[in-house]
Amino acid sequence: MLSQKTIDIVKSTAPILETHGVDITTYFYKTMFEAHPELLNIFNHANQSQGRQQTALANTVYAAAQYIDQLEVLLPTVKQIAQKHRSLTVKPEHYPIVGEYLLKAIKGVLGDAATDEIIGAWGEAYGVIAQVFIDIEKEMYAEAAEKSGGWEDFKEFIVEKKVTESSLITSFYLKAKDGVSVPWYLPGQYITVRLSIPGQKHLLNRQYSLSQAPGSDSFRISVKREADHNPQGKVSNYLHDRLNVGDTIEASAPAGDFYLEKGEQPVALISGGVGITPMMAMLGSIAENEPNRKTVFVHAARNKDAHAFGEEAGALVEKLNDGKMYIAYEAKKDESEVCDITGYVSRDFLQQVIESNSVCYVCGPISFMRAVVSHLTALGFSKNNIKYEFFGPALALEA
Ligand code: HEM
Repeated sequence: MLSQKTIDIVKSTAPILETHGVDITTYFYKTMFEAHPELLNIFNHANQSQGRQQTALANTVYAAAQYIDQLEVLLPTVKQIAQKHRSLTVKPEHYPIVGEYLLKAIKGVLGDAATDEIIGAWGEAYGVIAQVFIDIEKEMYAEAAEKSGGWEDFKEFIVEKKVTESSLITSFYLKAKDGVSVPWYLPGQYITVRLSIPGQKHLLNRQYSLSQAPGSDSFRISVKREADHNPQGKVSNYLHDRLNVGDTIEASAPAGDFYLEKGEQPVALISGGVGITPMMAMLGSIAENEPNRKTVFVHAARNKDAHAFGEEAGALVEKLNDGKMYIAYEAKKDESEVCDITGYVSRDFLQQVIESNSVCYVCGPISFMRAVVSHLTALGFSKNNIKYEFFGPALALEA
């Protein structure tokens, strides 16, 4: 239990953290990786170089400081982060390391303004926050192990099939090397894949949504090729160019809190680009388990060449008793490209095709999600009925 004095100090210094948050977390990562380079086998280096991870951590630390005496308010955020931690095999013994370098970073950036009393209070508060994560992650490890017959960390998979889905997206079907069937997962969840790339000192981890409904004996991930200079593309492009049928790759058990909830409520699946991947799992699951559920599937692609899963999604929608599919191409190459919308998915269009009592799932590039979420909000959809997933560290959409 934190004393009132500690709570007061942490809350009153939280605004300083808001101002210097990204400086502190940037300093934190730099010094922590210098002292513990082994942690570079867990963290995504591209997120570091783009500053997204620093921002995500700074926002969370700031929020935790503000709500230090009512951390239950943050539970949904903590659970989302904990899912990612679990899929990356973050363990209790890592927390003191992060705590040590976070406090050193606060001191390093704030200098004399960070008195011993302030640092002491933050140290205590970190201990409480870390324990919340550790406890939740412990439950998640146990649950994952139970669902998958004891599989807690990474295990090896063989590429069974590699299928080109569009000019940019390729699917990989992964079968467990130990012959055990893949566990049941929630449609929309992701797996973390881990691999060692020649010339790279550390292991590389990336999350990919599972792109087919659960129930098959292999995982399917569908990966977008990125521009060569994009650091986020290092793993994806390696998979495209170098990972072939018969090769081995490591993966951890499915995770994530963006998933289709079963129910009577009409559902809208709205995706842009490679954001279609979790939607394919959701659509497949509706077709299999809830074919009477009213469903609208809206997908935006750059053009026909970049449009993945057109036939597969169409066949799944055909299985529904009340399903509709709409395709938007940002710019058609020529008139032979047939789609429902040319240009962006507009507010008016969403209003026309989505029933106002629907639950909407949104996934795609940040600009796409920002536009769609703002349209849905303006159309009166409540926060509870707009669910979205970021690829990469979660950021505030309003930012
Ligand atoms: C991701 C917060 C402890 C490793 C994240 C994210 C946040 C966060 C906000 C971004 C989540 C997202 O992707 O949306 C925290 C907080 C911690 C903590 C508040 C302490 C209380 C740790 C520890 C480790 C760790 C102890 C292990 C050394 C990671 C990794 C990611 C991550 C590897 C994935 C992001 C990437 O690789 O770029 N954490 N974390 N975290 N965290 Fe933590």
